[in-house]
Amino acid sequence: MKSAKTFYVLAVAMCMSAASFTVGAQSTTVQPSTTSPSANKALRSPDVIYVPTPPEVVEAMLKVANVRQGDVLYDLGSGDGRIPIIAAQKYNVSRATGIDINPERIAEAQANLKSAGVGDRVRFRNEDLFEADFSEATVVTLYLLPALNVKLLPKLLSDLKPGTRIVSHAFDMGNWKPEQTLDIGGRKVYYWTIPAKGTPAYAAASAAAGAGAAKPN
Ligand SMILES: C[S@@+](CC[C@H](N)C(=O)[O-])C[C@H]1O[C@@H](n2cnc3c(N)ncnc32)[C@H](O)[C@@H]1O
Repeated sequence: MKSAKTFYVLAVAMCMSAASFTVGAQSTTVQPSTTSPSANKALRSPDVIYVPTPPEVVEAMLKVANVRQGDVLYDLGSGDGRIPIIAAQKYNVSRATGIDINPERIAEAQANLKSAGVGDRVRFRNEDLFEADFSEATVVTLYLLPALNVKLLPKLLSDLKPGTRIVSHAFDMGNWKPEQTLDIGGRKVYYWTIPAKGTPAYAAASAAAGAGAAKPN
């Protein structure tokens, strides 16, 4: 699972599998560090398998988004928590939150957080990213799938403030053209900012969101 292409093939196969595991409040032994709106609600299967972003790509993502003190970062589908933790450790964000639907990933992230020495600036929430409130974010990081990015785009546009920076490892956002594209040792990193409503840039992003919604699954 070294390449993004392999990850994509495996992830799509998993998404299509009827045998994916289910995650429920009964099965989790993890207590999220903060109150979660869905803490007591059975969560569905993950939309994509867990594959971590390599450290050098994490660094590139945080650098291209100019992550800094004062930022509020959300990693949607946060895996072992590395992006929020590094954002707090090295980029000094005010707060960083990881959201993951899989309680096993939340448990790993909580364990990693314990030894990270970043106090209470980082937290993890066991929630479905499509239902989560991340409207306070100034930076959002993603490593999902192309179709999930496009599915998420309407929520990004409706919930986030203009100027919020979005960074995605490996996958673009359909017709919403990135402002920057990096190549980090063969892995792509895409960067956008949420445009202000009423601007041509917002109209273009909305059209991309609409085009994605119109596509059959
Ligand atoms: C490819 S991993 C990325 C992990 C981490 N962001 C990184 O870059 O190292 C995707 C993560 O998304 C989580 N995930 C999948 N569907 C989700 C959903 N609907 N809501 C929240 N998390 C989800 C998976 O459990 C997995 O940990």
